[in-house]
Amino acid sequence: MGNIMQKPFVAPSLLSCDFSAFGSELAKAEKNGAGWIHFDVMDGSFVPEITFGAKLVKDLRGKSSGVFDVHLMVNHPETQVKTFAESGADFITFHKESTVHCHRVVEQIKSYGKKAGISIVPSTPVWEIEPLLPFVDLVLVMSVNPGYSGQKMIRETLTKITELRGLREVGEYGYLISVDGGVNESTLPFVMDTSPDVIVSGSAFFNSPEGFMKKLGGLIENYGNKVQRH
Ligand code: DX5
Ligand code: ZN
Repeated sequence: MGNIMQKPFVAPSLLSCDFSAFGSELAKAEKNGAGWIHFDVMDGSFVPEITFGAKLVKDLRGKSSGVFDVHLMVNHPETQVKTFAESGADFITFHKESTVHCHRVVEQIKSYGKKAGISIVPSTPVWEIEPLLPFVDLVLVMSVNPGYSGQKMIRETLTKITELRGLREVGEYGYLISVDGGVNESTLPFVMDTSPDVIVSGSAFFNSPEGFMKKLGGLIENYGNKVQRH
């Protein structure tokens, strides 16, 4: 099961970085210990805002050997898989709510040798993606409504992480569980109680990468030790 059951690691979301300096912001994240980088792709349709496309992933790919975790918040994700796969993304995650033929999109992502992730918004229950769980490499639980960084966490969504851990154990599945939205110093303890594998952080991380890694990274470290999650 790879790194499942180890302490969670942080994936900084570039959505909260300075868009005039993607290269140096990425370097800053990596210098502070980030091994995963989260790319929030928005199309102005599935969510109101527009961010960036595959060219950004491609241009940054040459500057990093980290894991590139692409979170597609777009309608018709099947039209984007090829370009993002070719841009050097490692994980491509799309939304259950964005397309009818989710299983086909998972297979499409895998056909490029990429890891496939499925995400659910706060109002989508886990049972809606149960048929996909044997096939995916990652499940991204949105703990805010997608579209913006800096929102307040909807804490009720965190029970989905526990639920997904249970289903993973029973089904002997291999997906990682990631949580995205509103993670900060005060919400982190609640997140840690559910033991996700990946914690995405936008504003809390980029407001102060060093401070984040010292304070929240330290909290994660200590919490992991406390519950002996190894
Ligand atoms: C929201 C994005 C998140 C966002 C998280 O739609 O998917 O990845 O960047 O930002 P924070 O951590 O500020 O909630
Ligand atoms: Zn995201």
